[in-house]
Amino acid sequence: MCGIVAYVGSSDRTKSVLCESLGRLEYRGYDSSGICFVENGRSRVIRSEGKLENLFTKLKDCEVTSSLGIAHTRWATHGDPSERNAHPQVSGPISVVHNGIVENYPELKKELIAAGYEFRSDTDTEVISHLIRDFTEKGNSLLESTRKTFEKIEGSYAVAVMSDKEPGKIIATRRFSPLIIARSGSECFLASDIPAILPYTREFIFLEDNDFVVLDENGVSITDAAGGDVRRDPTVVDWDPSVTEKSGYRHYMLKEIFEQPSAIFDTLRGKFTADMRKVVFEDLDPSLLRNTQRIIIAACGTSYHASLIGKYMIEEVAGVNTQVELASEFRHRNPVVGPDTLFIAVSQSGETADTSEALLKAKELGMNSIGITNVVLSKISRESDCVIATKAGPEIGVASTKSFTTQVMAFYLLSVYLAISRKAVDSKRARQLIADAISVSKLQQEALGLDEHLRELSRDFYGYRNFIYLGRGINYPVALEGALKLKEVSYIHAEGYAAGEMKHGPIALIDRNMPVVFIAPEEDVYYKKLLGNFQEVKARGGRIIFITSDRELRLPDERDRKIVIPKSSYLVSPMVSVIPVQFMAYHVANILGTDVDQPRNLAKVVTVE
Ligand code: M6R
Repeated sequence: MCGIVAYVGSSDRTKSVLCESLGRLEYRGYDSSGICFVENGRSRVIRSEGKLENLFTKLKDCEVTSSLGIAHTRWATHGDPSERNAHPQVSGPISVVHNGIVENYPELKKELIAAGYEFRSDTDTEVISHLIRDFTEKGNSLLESTRKTFEKIEGSYAVAVMSDKEPGKIIATRRFSPLIIARSGSECFLASDIPAILPYTREFIFLEDNDFVVLDENGVSITDAAGGDVRRDPTVVDWDPSVTEKSGYRHYMLKEIFEQPSAIFDTLRGKFTADMRKVVFEDLDPSLLRNTQRIIIAACGTSYHASLIGKYMIEEVAGVNTQVELASEFRHRNPVVGPDTLFIAVSQSGETADTSEALLKAKELGMNSIGITNVVLSKISRESDCVIATKAGPEIGVASTKSFTTQVMAFYLLSVYLAISRKAVDSKRARQLIADAISVSKLQQEALGLDEHLRELSRDFYGYRNFIYLGRGINYPVALEGALKLKEVSYIHAEGYAAGEMKHGPIALIDRNMPVVFIAPEEDVYYKKLLGNFQEVKARGGRIIFITSDRELRLPDERDRKIVIPKSSYLVSPMVSVIPVQFMAYHVANILGTDVDQPRNLAKVVTVE
């Protein structure tokens, strides 16, 4: 939530680097934005309500001679999305961009008002600018003032600060919110996330909590809260910069749906022994799993749905008792765990506040942990005992697509790994399970051929205001995911249910105006039962979209629609059956004209509770 960038380098690049980097961070928040340069020793702050393009319009004819600057794109937490609440938040010579939440801002605001400071915004961030100013006016340097300010601040933050009084430098720090820095030649970059500055370098330094950084013409220096020097080695990231481009697609969401076969391929790379008999997790400590009798998985949103599929896989293949928790619930309750309980945190971004707090809770309870994440050196990957990296590449569209299928593949690999190491499967079954994993990319490629069919179907269905998605077994979470996708990008109300639950209440909703989407691959062990549920819906006049691999099935009512997906093995079927529901959400949203990549009220990375 919120993206920040900073640049120190050449004056003829300041504006373009900041604007382009901000553009690549817009998925973190997009309700207002702002930028600050220092020109002739004075800060020049330009802010705008709404999408980044509004800021860019203001900047169009603005000549920038500053060789450094900071910028921000916002997802509102405190104060409505408006120009006065946009960042940078300014106090006298101080300008601050902030990602996070100042939890004790009401008390600090009271103190600052009593000291004579006037507040011009409703943001929590404004207390940071006033406090830094206050410390500088008491004779402290900008760096020292920033340090002293954050001794008083409770909450989460990644900030970058500039001052008219020390015009050649930018100070930055973080706690619980991500921040990376990079150098390339004589240029220094700072950002909330790798994609923002990926076109300029592949080497990044991931800052730790309470690191304080100075960026100036001499480069970058890092100190700790006490002022001691800190050395952080850069990490090389092998993402291709083109992955942050739309590459001819109209939206990132569509591009990312199409990237799934290659993302799965990359996630599988290096995961099998040469004889294809075993799964290899180089970073996984086998002792972590040896004594595991029970697994608890925690995640949010789409990652939660992938985790529900993970439970089916782990229990079915490896026979290990597994429970899935919403991270936002788990972190606040007192779960009963034993020394043999393993915790798995699942998060595309690796920064989701609820999931990382759930991980901390698990660690407090003495559990060993695995992080399944898509972002190297993210918070969750750093705090887990071991990491299984999904290789989806940067996911820019707010609606998760390729991260879902790669997380499901990570669970599949883990379940096969556990099954083999516990001798829960014989070698023939192990080889078959591995062959099924390898088949997924090709099956997905085939399913991507449904794009045009789903586009046409969406034209027939976009007018409905409610949808139900039904699935059973391992495809029940796909129903949940289908409903979430439709809700978030098209703003149409949709609910996912386990098909067997219909008769316990939701069936009352069925009438001519309630389309029901069935996720029903023929290989689903409950396929016959799903056909029974189909009849129940038909008997009540419902209109059906039936996603199945059963080519022979005839739907007698011509109002109903059948989508044929390729046949796969049951356990890998969710990675194929989800593709039509992703396409459908995308095309319905497109027809309705919503902002597919940046749906209202959402942000890609949710770093607040
Ligand atoms: O980065 P994470 O996987 O932890 O994010 C969790 C959710 O915020 C995320 O999956 C969200 O539900 C997506 N926008 C859904 O498409």
